[in-house]
Amino acid sequence: MPVLRSIRERFAAERPLAGIRVGACLHLTAETANLVAALSAGGAEVLLCPANPLSTQDDVVAVLAGQDQVVVRATRGDYAGDVQAVAAAGPQLLLDDGADLIAAVQAAGGTPVGAMEETATGMVLLRRMAAAGRLGFPVLAVNEAQTERSLNDRHGLGQSALDGILRATNLLLAGQTLVVLGYGWAGKGVAVRGRGAGAAVVVCEVDPLRALEARMEGFEVMGALAAAERGDVFVTVTGVPGVLRAEHFRRMKDGAVLANAGHFDVEIDRGALRELAVGGVREVRPLVEEFDLGDRRLHLLAEGRVVNLAAAEGHPAAVMDVSFAVQALCAEELVRQGGALPPGVHGIRPAIDREVARLKLAALGIELDELTPEQEAYRHAFEG
Ligand code: ADE
Repeated sequence: MPVLRSIRERFAAERPLAGIRVGACLHLTAETANLVAALSAGGAEVLLCPANPLSTQDDVVAVLAGQDQVVVRATRGDYAGDVQAVAAAGPQLLLDDGADLIAAVQAAGGTPVGAMEETATGMVLLRRMAAAGRLGFPVLAVNEAQTERSLNDRHGLGQSALDGILRATNLLLAGQTLVVLGYGWAGKGVAVRGRGAGAAVVVCEVDPLRALEARMEGFEVMGALAAAERGDVFVTVTGVPGVLRAEHFRRMKDGAVLANAGHFDVEIDRGALRELAVGGVREVRPLVEEFDLGDRRLHLLAEGRVVNLAAAEGHPAAVMDVSFAVQALCAEELVRQGGALPPGVHGIRPAIDREVARLKLAALGIELDELTPEQEAYRHAFEG
């Protein structure tokens, strides 16, 4: 993770986070350990808890737990208790993945200088909190950074969601019908990679602009009820609950595979699947539950939890390098501003996005052309 390394080296020299207690609710992966190293080098004390009950890499926790300036709360089976423990420690800066920690700190009346949220799902919750006047500190929507959308969501999730499905099932995607529910940045990534792997891709999307874009991209677009009859593999990437429900399960083919790549395990209604499973539920492979509906069997992956982290290793390091570099620079900025931003949701400064993209390109050995003076003058003339 060369970009994060260069930031860590600068942080070690400048110590911009000296004495700051950071609360971080993140997937406890090797990539996250690199972010923690950068924050610690900057002088922060980091209190960590997992962002999902199934994504924790135990070897990473073992290493992190032995480090100075780092406290890890990762109790198997008590996800909510871990989040509460970090919130109760009075963190001054929050790094969140799903908004659970931010909500817990807000509920406890905490007053951090600011927070950052990494997921689209979390942003939906935070905007609701802000609209209801229940967000007492500034939150940076790092999820909406340009680098985040194009790299993390499209390339990171696009690849790793399919990676999780393939690791869990060992399926050949070629020749299958892959139904992608949700055509945001992450859905686009899944759809394009599914097509690249030889699947016939069907997209379900409620937003007409996105649906039109999917159609123009060459995907079949239809409602979820129609798609339920067509699909061999289903992936939900919407950020909203109840996307695949009883009415869909009843129409699916025998052997269909269901996976969720959204942050929370609410997009596929597992309770409804259980109710329909008159023939019982059994584990047919690790992370593959078979629900016997009597006349057909449906296969749910990773309990409907975020499949790329539960069944694979999440986004590759090359992607998280960029995401976490943005987070590290935003952490520095929030601390430097010392609470000057008003409470509510804020975008990140575009300059941070550009700086991280520049560092990543430099790490890849890619040099860019610059506009000639004549081109600059031409552009400025039109900018007025
Ligand atoms: N979110 C998605 N992929 C991740 C990873 N590899 N590490 C931490 N958070 C992630």
